[in-house]
Formats: sequence, C-alpha cells, structure tokens
Amino acid sequence: MKEVFDGAIAIDLGTTSSSVGVWKDGRVEIIADEQGNRSTPSYVAFLAEGRLIGDAAKKQAAMNPRNTIFDAKRLIGRRYTDPDVQRDMARWPFAVVEKEGSPLIKATYLGVEETFTPQEISSMVLSRMKEIAEAKLGKTVKKAVITVPAHFNDSQRSATQDAGTIAGLHVIQLINEPTAAAAAYGLDRKSNLEKNVVIFDLGGGTLDVSLVNMKGGVFAVKATAGDPHLGGEDFDNALLEHFKNEFKRKHKLDISQDPRALRRLRDACERAKCTLSSVSQTTVEVGSLFDGVDFSDSISRDRFEEINATLFNSILEPVKRVLSDAKIPHEKVDDIVLVGGSTRIPKIQSVVSGYFGGRQLNKLDNPDEAVISGATIQASILTGHTSETTQDIVLLDVTPLSLGVALVGDIFGIVIPRNTPIPTTNSEVYTTVEDNQTEVLFSVYQGERIVECSKNNHYLGEFLLTGVPPMPRHQPQLDTTFDIDASGLLKASARERTSGRRASVTITNSVGRLSAAEVDRMMKDAERFKRDDKASEARQRAKMDAKYDLKSYIGQVKGRIASPQIGMWLSRTAMERIEAKLAHALEKVENEDTTTDEFRKLQLDITQALQEAGIR
Ligand SMILES: Nc1ncnc2c1ncn2[C@@H]1O[C@H](COP(=O)(O)OP(=O)(O)OP(=O)(O)O)[C@@H](O)[C@H]1O
Ligand SMILES: [Mg+2]
Repeated sequence: MKEVFDGAIAIDLGTTSSSVGVWKDGRVEIIADEQGNRSTPSYVAFLAEGRLIGDAAKKQAAMNPRNTIFDAKRLIGRRYTDPDVQRDMARWPFAVVEKEGSPLIKATYLGVEETFTPQEISSMVLSRMKEIAEAKLGKTVKKAVITVPAHFNDSQRSATQDAGTIAGLHVIQLINEPTAAAAAYGLDRKSNLEKNVVIFDLGGGTLDVSLVNMKGGVFAVKATAGDPHLGGEDFDNALLEHFKNEFKRKHKLDISQDPRALRRLRDACERAKCTLSSVSQTTVEVGSLFDGVDFSDSISRDRFEEINATLFNSILEPVKRVLSDAKIPHEKVDDIVLVGGSTRIPKIQSVVSGYFGGRQLNKLDNPDEAVISGATIQASILTGHTSETTQDIVLLDVTPLSLGVALVGDIFGIVIPRNTPIPTTNSEVYTTVEDNQTEVLFSVYQGERIVECSKNNHYLGEFLLTGVPPMPRHQPQLDTTFDIDASGLLKASARERTSGRRASVTITNSVGRLSAAEVDRMMKDAERFKRDDKASEARQRAKMDAKYDLKSYIGQVKGRIASPQIGMWLSRTAMERIEAKLAHALEKVENEDTTTDEFRKLQLDITQALQEAGIR
C-alpha cells in the first residue's frame, strides 16, 4: 500500500469539466493529467468492454451517445419530477428513469443494462480526479475539499458529499464556488483596506453571484444568490435548436431522433459559441450530418445574442438580489470579478458592466481556474498546511436559502434565514395543534416563500418527535433546533421541554438522498468497477501485445520468404499461399474489431503455412 498523503486535495466538480489542485511549495498547483490537461471533461462512458472517464469518454460521445453520460451535476440531489430535470431529459441522448421519486441514469455496461444514480456518476468523475492527483503525488489521497455552486440546496449538497464518499474520499468540506474564487482573487490582492467585491460566476451549468467583503485575510460573504440551472450548456442548446430548425427548413430533414447527429451538431455549436467570443461571425459545418447531407451555415455574434436574449437578460436577477440582501448599493461595490468559462461571452460582460453604470470589470487571466485555486487554498488551510501568505486567511460563508418547517396552514416557519453566516445554530419554539397530541411530524423545507410552503419551497425531508406527554394543545414547548455546518449541510432536531424527549434527524424520507446502506453498497460497486477497469485494461493490453506480436511476425516472415536461400527452392503455389495468408493477416491487423484470439489464430495460420511448405 502506498503512503497516505497527509494533506487534502481540492476538486472543482464542474458541470462540463472538473479540475484538481494541491497546495505545494507555498502555492496552488493545478494538477494536469498524463496528457497534460489541466481540466477533465465531467463525462463517463460505458462500453461493452469497459468504462471510460473524462477526455476519452467525451471523445467517443458521438459514436456511443446513449451510453455516454454527462451533466450529472444537473441531476444530483434533484427529484425526477423537477421541471429542470424534465426539460433536460428531453434533450439528453441517454435515458433517465424514475425510482421512488429519484432520477436514475440508464446505460449498457459490459453488455448488461444497468442504472446509476447521479451520485455514482459524479463519484466516477471524482475518483478519476483523485487518480490524477495520486499519480502526481505518488501517494494515496484520502481527504478532499469539493466545490458546489453557492446556490445548491441541502439535498444537492448532501448528494455531492455522498458522491465523494462513494469515490473513497473523506470530504472535509464542501466549498461554495464563488467563495473559493473570492479567496483566490483576494489572496493576490491582499490589502488592509476594506473592499466589497462582487463575484459573478457563470460556468457550464450554473450561475452564482456573491458579495464578499474583504479586509486583510478575512473574506466574508455577505449575501449570495444564483440560478442553479443557467450556464454555457443552455446557450449551446439554444444554438442547437436554431440550427436544427435551419437544417429542417433547408433540407426537410429532422435530426431530432438521431442522437449521433445531435451530438455532432451540439459540439459544433459549442465551438461556434466560443469563437463568437472573439470574432463577430463564424461558420458551423458538420460533414454528412444526416442521411449523407452536409450541414453548413454561418452565424453572427448579433444573431447569437438575439437567440439567447432571454437567458442573457436573466443574469441580472441574482445580482440585484445580492446587492439588496447585502444592503450595499452598486456604487459601493469596489470590484466586479468575472469567473467561469461563460463570462468570456462579450454580451455577458456588457450586461454586467451595464448594470454597474458601464464600469470596468475585473477579468482574470484564467477565469475557469479561480474556483479550483481558492478551493485548494481552503484545503491547505483546513489541513494545517499554510504558508506565510495564507496563514491569516479566513473564509466566512453564508447559507444561500432560508431553512425552516411547515406550520399549520402550510405557513413556512423559518428557523434560519438566508444569508446567515455559517456554521450556525438556531432554535425556534413550536407547539402542538391538538389536545393530548403525543406525536409531532416536522416537515423541513428550504426556500423563500412564506405562504403555501409545501408548494413553493423545496422539501428536504421530515422527522417525527414521539412520546410528547399528553397536554392541552398549544401547551407543549417544542424546541426545534437547526444546525448548519461549514459545508452548508443541515442537521435538525426537536426536543419537548418537560419530558426532554428528543427527535433528531438526519433527514429521512427525502428524495434524492442516499441512505448509509446505499452509500455503502455504491462504495463496494465502485471497487468492483475499478476491478473491471483493471480487467478490461489487462484485456486491452493482451490485445495490443497479440497485435504487436503478429505484426512483427509478419515482417519477419516477409523477410525470410524474400531471401534468396528460400526463394530458390519454394514452389510458386506455396509462395502464393503464404503471401495470401500474410496479406489477410495484415488487413486484419489494421481492423479495430479483430480480437486477441483472432490475432493469435492468424499467427498460427501463417506458421502452419510455412511448415506445410517445409520452412522451419
Ligand atoms: N471563449 C468562450 N466563449 C464562450 N463560452 C466559453 C468560452 N470558453 C468556454 N466557454 C464555456 O464555458 C463553459 C465551461 O465553463 P466552466 O469550466 O467555468 O464551467 P463548469 O465548471 O464546468 O460548470 P459549473 O461551474 O457551471 O458547474 C462551457 O459551457 C464552455 O462552452
Ligand atoms: Mg465551475
């Protein structure tokens, strides 16, 4: 067993791509994979002979669209009936099915149809990131800080934490993405002057806006807001829809039911979108898109902005809310920092800048690396590996959404309001509604709507307080306590004062959440997947060896039959037979479908032909 790394790694688990960092020699090191990539696509592909994660999975997506899974972050901790899930499902090439209210992803793996939770898919991406770090460090990694959008609710957070556990990681903290970015930004510009900084983080799938107060090494989030379902993927979708319709109009052909064509066109749309961030016009071309028909069309930046106008305008909502929640007018904001790949879009920049009266924005050299850098700093601080520059750094975060319980009349009784600094504990006293009531069921919600709580807020789960001594209604005093830890995760409990009876949760009965037993089973499965990966690697290696052996054998035999000693006495028919065998073997060598056994058999056939001709 390898030595265990005594620090913690940080993983930025993104919707579209993920990265891993470690604190080394007093600075952040973003770890590249064996190909030198500093980020890894958040993709997992299932195949007849094994599993691929990251770059290799994304590369074969067009060939294997139904079994190439991405966007797990858009599913994690959500219900099957969530309108966002339903909308996404309609455009994903892979199938999502329902089990007890939770969405499961269907894929054929090793020839068998299996289902996976979003947690498991994310855990596969996390374990790939863990592997990349372990290869670099030469040590086993046990601890990690993982990033989440600030706007993630409790279900999404705990599901992300479970994904870490399944990957064999002890998640020492979940860190909010904009807070991490603030730490990276602030560390480079540390000053004792107080500053109010807006972090605007628009990535592949989520938008987060946080207002962070910075002074010296203390970075305190004052308010946060966002849209957990808005990002680059949505701009790609809008563009895809546009071109799909163009193709239909021009050629009377509909590609809607062809996942391979959709994937190829989507990739072309994403490329066009990125190109339009630096030029004003580009062409989208996909050869033989559908029914042998090529696709080619041009698009201008103006048209791209028109297509996405509604989405682009919606980015200001969270900005406005953050400023009003933090009670800081926009002229009191010192810096506006852009984070996330989608902030490279000029229109996004101009909308944000426009809101602040045309102000200059603070652009980073690598807007997509700020989050991983900050998370790495936090990982080093939490494991006591600080340096002179980071030793006085303190990150103070807030809870993004109010938490409470449903009261009589479906009124939302808030126990912890949104934007409360975390970790935090707060209690409220509730009571019974009937005489001699001995049991009280607490339904826990997260959200901002006071009326019609169950309809308007996010249901997290429930817990039951039993053994309340019989008393007239309204008399029992039930202390209801909510605890939120530094990761933003909730623990709730209730206690009846006279009896001291207590009920606490870890919330049960909640959709999208895994039980300890399920996490356990998935951890075992993860080990099995890894063994399968090893077995398929071994098979792959055996195949490469057999192929190489055959190739060099063909070369050898060619040399021998061409030599004068043998050419002199070998009959023409024998020579032709051997040559035919060699030609056939050569053809098979270049064919991807040839199996290990076939390579061996081909080699044997040649040996036999030589023996029959009397060549030893
Ligand atoms: N030059 C560019 N112009 C426009 N969009 C870009 C550009 N470069 C990258 N993007 C987009 O940025 C997105 C990826 O950004 P990023 O890596 O910050 O997201 P993520 O971390 O995967 O997702 P999230 O943080 O939302 O979970 C992709 O949608 C990508 O197409
Ligand atoms: Mg991101």
